[in-house]
Amino acid sequence: MAKLFLVYFSPSGSTEKAVREVAKGIEGLPVEAIDLLTPASRKKRYTFATEDVVIFGMITAGKLFTLSDEIFACLHGDNTPFIGIITYGNGYYGIALSEMLARAKNQGFKVAALGAFVSRHSMDTAIAEGRPDSDDLRMMRDFGRKAYEKILGGDMELHNTPGTNWSSWEMGNKVIAYREEHPDEPYALPPSCKAKIITDSCIKCGTCVRHCPVDAIDIEAKTFDVDKCIGCWGCINRCPKHAIISTSKEVEDIMRSFGEASTKRLEPEIFM
Ligand SMILES: Cc1cc2nc3c(=O)[nH]c(=O)nc-3n(C[C@H](O)[C@H](O)[C@H](O)COP(=O)(O)O)c2cc1C
Ligand code: SF4
Ligand code: SF4
Repeated sequence: MAKLFLVYFSPSGSTEKAVREVAKGIEGLPVEAIDLLTPASRKKRYTFATEDVVIFGMITAGKLFTLSDEIFACLHGDNTPFIGIITYGNGYYGIALSEMLARAKNQGFKVAALGAFVSRHSMDTAIAEGRPDSDDLRMMRDFGRKAYEKILGGDMELHNTPGTNWSSWEMGNKVIAYREEHPDEPYALPPSCKAKIITDSCIKCGTCVRHCPVDAIDIEAKTFDVDKCIGCWGCINRCPKHAIISTSKEVEDIMRSFGEASTKRLEPEIFM
């Protein structure tokens, strides 16, 4: 094989970490990372050769996150082997893997392996705290190694195709059912859930501005453009001073019941 590409959309960094861990299972190839977080990065066109291998990772919310149309539109395979992973917050990933499979095929990739891995919940870091732990990390590396062995053996077919992942949470299952009925509707967090403030702890370091996927932050005015904001929680999680705080009562209520319903530890799931 020619080159290993690590491609990810990871607002709070867990998915990037997972992609890099999967890549540790693959030895002997030059590596190039493509971070699709910024608007400028998604304006480019990325083409991959038949001899390359792509590990792709994305945050999910019962389906692939907002911007998945834009993200997949800039990736072009030429029967390029594709190892896809999603991370989710120990609740449910719904239709995310089957959606990734369809989108990757549509963009010219050969989907050899897919994996769903639990990471701490970016909207409430007490949920799935400490994940991925050492067992998860080992499973990510094993997944990468097995997927690469499969590709080297010339087998690019998924013999074990992902379906819909359901939840132990009644509200979660309603969301998943809705996603199944409206697979083409992009994920969008309701505007009422995006309310947040920047407190006086802000030191104007610019980290949040540099990592906002949609340029929605005006740090001088300490305001957010709610119409642009996709509610990815990246600014909240990346701020070194914890100066950005969600003020949405709705989010507080949703996350309380999500946390109460999602106490059972979920394990990684792989499909090859
Ligand atoms: C707006 C939003 C919605 C989310 N929805 C779900 C969900 O429906 N189920 C779940 O298990 N995790 C959910 N999560 C948690 C993320 O999928 C998880 O924390 C992921 O690892 C974050 O990836 P990142 O660190 O790369 O941004 C959601 C996170 C956000 C910000
Ligand atoms: S990351 Fe935090 S401290 Fe830095 S500019 Fe943004 S809000 Fe201020
Ligand atoms: S402003 Fe919105 S889109 Fe930008 S990083 Fe914060 S939550 Fe994400």
